[in-house]
Amino acid sequence: MIEQLYAWLDQRIDLSGLQHFIAEKTVPVHRYKVWYYMGGITLFLVGVQVFTGILLLLYYRPSSEEAYESVKFIVSQVPFGWLIRNIHSWSANLLIFMAFVHLFSTLFLRSYRKPRELTWVSGVLLLFVMMAFGFSGYLLPWNELSFFATKVGTGIAGAVPGVGHFMLRFLRGGDDVTGATLTRFYGLHVAILPAITTLILSFHLLLIQRQGMSVPPSVERREKAGEKTPQMPFFPHYVLHDLMWWYVALAVLAALALVLPWELGKKADAFAPVPAGIRPEWYFLAMFQVLKLLPAHILGLEGEMLGVLGFGLAATLLLLLPFLDRHAADGRSSRLVTVAGAAALVYMVVFTIYGYLAA
Ligand code: HEM
Repeated sequence: MIEQLYAWLDQRIDLSGLQHFIAEKTVPVHRYKVWYYMGGITLFLVGVQVFTGILLLLYYRPSSEEAYESVKFIVSQVPFGWLIRNIHSWSANLLIFMAFVHLFSTLFLRSYRKPRELTWVSGVLLLFVMMAFGFSGYLLPWNELSFFATKVGTGIAGAVPGVGHFMLRFLRGGDDVTGATLTRFYGLHVAILPAITTLILSFHLLLIQRQGMSVPPSVERREKAGEKTPQMPFFPHYVLHDLMWWYVALAVLAALALVLPWELGKKADAFAPVPAGIRPEWYFLAMFQVLKLLPAHILGLEGEMLGVLGFGLAATLLLLLPFLDRHAADGRSSRLVTVAGAAALVYMVVFTIYGYLAA
């Protein structure tokens, strides 16, 4: 019966071609191979978000009157609702953390070089989309902290020269953060961003399957000198390794969700005084802290506007990195990329900690 079904499908969708591809696919084995698993862990966490997000969707109500109450209901009345919400919140943070680990590892190992330029570009876009998921999801419980942080965050979008005011109104659905903003963020979070993610992620994964794994420049040099890099079969060896890492990620997630419940806080009140310690999620803190430190005016221009322009420029450089690396063609390790990558990493760690302590 199974053989007949296989033959039936094979005649229609070339299953044996796929089977050959998987059977022949191998992954290089060298001292940096642990970094190959970081993308896989990120992918696993995307799956966790989809699964827990759909469950939350069954009870969540996207209006300023009911959002907070519905989340309260989920964590106090719905069986295991607290667990699902905790996992969704923790996994979101872990996902962005792992996406950064994956980004820096592919940067330092030069995986973005030919022919993987588009894999890098699609990866950077995925990171931005993940951050937009975080930003929009933060408002959904409609609590005090998220309400005021969204006010500040969307206010920063207003500082973009030329289109700032349009962007601010577009994001807020008006001049202020209201129920209209919540409806917008909800639509973004559960429909628009998932659709964009599906498209870009499919492209990212398709490219990886077609190109196979890259090897870092040091291993490539040895290969050019005639040394053979050992390989491991993709199936089942690499897949089993991947699964082991997913299991580790799940254990970390479960421990965090059980030991450190995600706070719900007080319901948002637009007329309440701004509470102390308003700050964005940790992955925006490094940027937020710089904007806070900038003087109101620099050389006659608005400080915040210059800061926002600076981050826009940094994001563009990151996106175009494969085309800016001058040693991409000759295979040498570019020192400038290593220094810029290390400086970005140090800046992010130092300013995120600083942002926490200063809030
Ligand atoms: C939702 C976010 C992302 C997911 C789910 C994801 C998933 C994956 C997976 C499963 C792999 C294959 C295993 C590996 O090499 O780690 C991979 C490879 C790759 N990813 Fe991502 N990725 C994401 C974000 C990013 C980001 C932010 C970047 C960098 C800007 C990036 C750049 C790359 C590159 C260059 C490769 C090829 C690595 C190689 O061939 O050695 N990805 N990604």
